[in-house]
Order: sequence, then structure tokens, then C-alpha cells
Amino acid sequence: MEKFIITQSPPLKGTVRVSGSKNAALPILAATLLTEAQCVIKDVPELLDVQRMEEYLQTFGADTQWQREKNKITVGVKKIASTEAPYPLACSMRASFLVMGPLLARAARVKIPLPGGCAIGARPVDQHLKGLAALGAEITQEHGMVYAKAKRLRGANIYLDFPSVGATENIMMAAVLARGRTIIENSAIEPEIVDLAGFLNAIGADVRGAGTDTIRINGVRGLRGGEYTIIPDRIEAGTFMVAAALTRGDVLIENIVADHLKPVAAKLKEANAAVEEAETGLQVRYVLRGRLKRADIKTLPYPGFPTDMQAQFMSLLALAEGTSIITETIFENRFMHVGELKRMGANIKIESRSAIVEGVEKLAGTQVRTTDLRAGAALILSGLIAEGETEIDDIYHIDRGYCKIEEKLRGLGAKIKRVSS
Ligand code: EPZ
Repeated sequence: MEKFIITQSPPLKGTVRVSGSKNAALPILAATLLTEAQCVIKDVPELLDVQRMEEYLQTFGADTQWQREKNKITVGVKKIASTEAPYPLACSMRASFLVMGPLLARAARVKIPLPGGCAIGARPVDQHLKGLAALGAEITQEHGMVYAKAKRLRGANIYLDFPSVGATENIMMAAVLARGRTIIENSAIEPEIVDLAGFLNAIGADVRGAGTDTIRINGVRGLRGGEYTIIPDRIEAGTFMVAAALTRGDVLIENIVADHLKPVAAKLKEANAAVEEAETGLQVRYVLRGRLKRADIKTLPYPGFPTDMQAQFMSLLALAEGTSIITETIFENRFMHVGELKRMGANIKIESRSAIVEGVEKLAGTQVRTTDLRAGAALILSGLIAEGETEIDDIYHIDRGYCKIEEKLRGLGAKIKRVSS
């Protein structure tokens, strides 16, 4: 097992380039199952979850070639070799459920483990199953397995009870090969949904309205191959923006889509950090004499404040002047980082779905444990500013969603190293 050792670091300074988006890459890789032709996906981030998705696709018959040095994956699924998702890989990440729509559309059947909960919540898939059933899939569940089959899916009007990102993606992928038109209402509008639609249209699908709450899909008989470049990772970018403000630094974050970062930039400005659009990205600068100011956060579906930035922002508000209220409306258990931050000296109280964060003057480094991906990122940020040394265990969680994070941070002057424990 590996861990990070972080020592209190000087203000971060310099330029950092963000990698491709994990949450765009994973559904787009799943979508390559929809066509027998070869697809070339560019700007794919080198992550544990992407590696798992590659291995997972191979079990369904995909030929893959990942040129890591070029961040490029070539995928060809000439024939679906199996429609049974292997349990260990299927349970290693939530995104594995996203092969359900493509396999139903391409091979008319699928057997896949019902995803269990994870550290941040129960994460049911009822909206996924509701949409796929509306498209004509016969779905049964037994002993924790989901069985689905459909001769040929047919278009339908689907209203999502919640703008679920994963459900929107699964239904979209199933609908592109269904007979007739599908309308998904109350769909998720995250940038990663728009990116998936962009990839599907690049290989011959007819998806319109992605990025709005109503997506219209005209089914086609078949899809071709194509090339597609993934959008930058807005959560990685937001994490570096918080790191710059938290360490009182001055950092240029490159390879970003500024629009995707509006909620994070707005909250950083509210806390009195300066965020300016630069030629090649966003410049985050600390301009205060004193401490950052308090701010209230409420996580919401896009374009609201992203739940994936909640933990990182808590690290910042833990040291801000005043009391901040952070309300997590998306996941029911996404405060796992609070206990660890309190062990570093943060003053945080949880009341139902809210965390009341009393800003303190300083944090002290100690040994902490990563419970989930973004909680791990929050602990890294706190370690950069805490007095003394912070040791973060179970960092494989962090490697799932951040590509070479310690190298990127060291490039900005952070004192962080990866050691085997
Ligand atoms: C995606 O998860 C992301 N993962 C998550 O990022 C992100 O936090 C989340 O969207 C919200 O933005 C990937 O894209 C791989 P949801 P997903 O379906 O699709 C409930 C990270 O850190 N729900 O929008 O699972 C669910 O329980 C990860 O990168 C149902 O009730 O998110 C949750 O409370 C973490 N029924 C809420 O909706 C359903 O059928 C949001 O889920 C589906 C979801």
C-alpha cells in the first residue's frame, strides 16, 4: 500500500495543466461497445478507474490499445464476446453499470451485478432501470444480479425523477440504436453529458439537446467509428484552484473550460480569493492580507456547486474567518472527510445534511486515512497548509480520479511525496 507524506508547503506558484475528465472518459469508453468499428479517444486521463474500464471492456470482447504517453486509447469491439459483467471488475467502480445500456442496444441482453453502495451513499440505480425498461428491456433482479433483455429497444418518452448523471448516460446510450425517437426529460445537464453526446454523434448517432433538461434521440440502425477528444476535468481543475487559494498562492490552471468552473470560481471570489480569466486558463491569486472569508455552500446538480468539490472546499473553509454552512444535497453520506479534518484541528459539526464549519487559525499535520476519492483530495489540500507533517493512507482512492497529482503539486512548490507503507 502507498501513502502520501506532505509537509507544510509554501504558497503554490506557477502553472499546472489539467488532464482529461474522468467522468467524461468513463461513459465514453462504455459507449464504444455500441459500434463494431474502431474508436480513438484522445486526452484520456491516466487513472486507475480508466485502467479498470479498459480491462472491463476487454471482457466483453473489446480490443484496446492505450498509448499512455499520448493519452490516447483505441478501442474496437468487432463482436460482443460476452454479455455477462464479471463481478470483481463490475464491483470495483460505479461507472461499470454504464455498460448496461450499450450491451442491451448492441447485444440485446446483459447480466450485471446490482451496484452496491459506496462510502458516499447507497447510490441506487432505479432511474437507470426505469429508463431502460421504458425502452422495452425486460429487467429482473435476483441474488444481487440484474438480468435484462430486449429483442430491439424502441424509443420512448422518459421522465427522470432526479437529473441523475449515470441514468441519463445509460439511457442515452441505449436509445441511440433503439427504433424511433426517445425523449429524456429532467435529464442531467453536466458537461460530461454533453461530451458523451458529442462522442455518440461523432460515431453517427442523432442526439440533440444534451446540456439542456430535455434530450431528444432519433435511433439509427448502426454506428460507425470515429475520433473524439475528452473535455478537461473540471473537478481536477477546481481542486487546484482551491489549492492555490488555500496556500495563499498564485497559480495558472491550464487546459480548462472556464464555463465549467463558474460555480467554483464564484465561491472562491466570495471567500475573497482572486480568480481571473487568462489567455490559456484561469489565474487564481491570493490577494488578501488576512484570512479567506467564510462562505456557504449548497451542492446541487450542474450548474450548481458540484458535490465533487464539496470536500475540497471544506478544507478551505476550515481555515476561513467566520462560520460556513456546507449542505450536501446530492449524496447522503458525503461527509466522511469531516472526521479526518477534525483530527487535524478543524472545528466542524455535522447536523443532518449540513456541516457547520467554524474557521480556525491553523491545522496540525497528523496521520489521516482516505475514505473516498474527493475526501482524499481534501486531505491533501489540508496537508499542504497544516503545520508539521501529514501522512495520508489508502491513497489508491485518490489515484482513481487524479492523474499524477503529487507531480503536479510538486511542480507548484508543494512538499509532497509518495512512499510505500
Ligand atoms: C456521477 O455519479 C459521477 N461519477 C460522480 O462523481 C458525481 O458525484 C455524480 O455524478 C453527481 O454529479 C461518474 O460520472 C463516474 P447520479 P452518478 O446518478 O452517475 C441518486 C467522483 O467523485 N440516484 O447523478 O452515480 C444517487 O444515489 C464521482 O468523481 C438515485 O437515487 O451520480 C445520488 O444520491 C463521485 N437513483 C444522486 O442521485 C438512480 O437511479 C446523484 O447520482 C441514480 C442516482
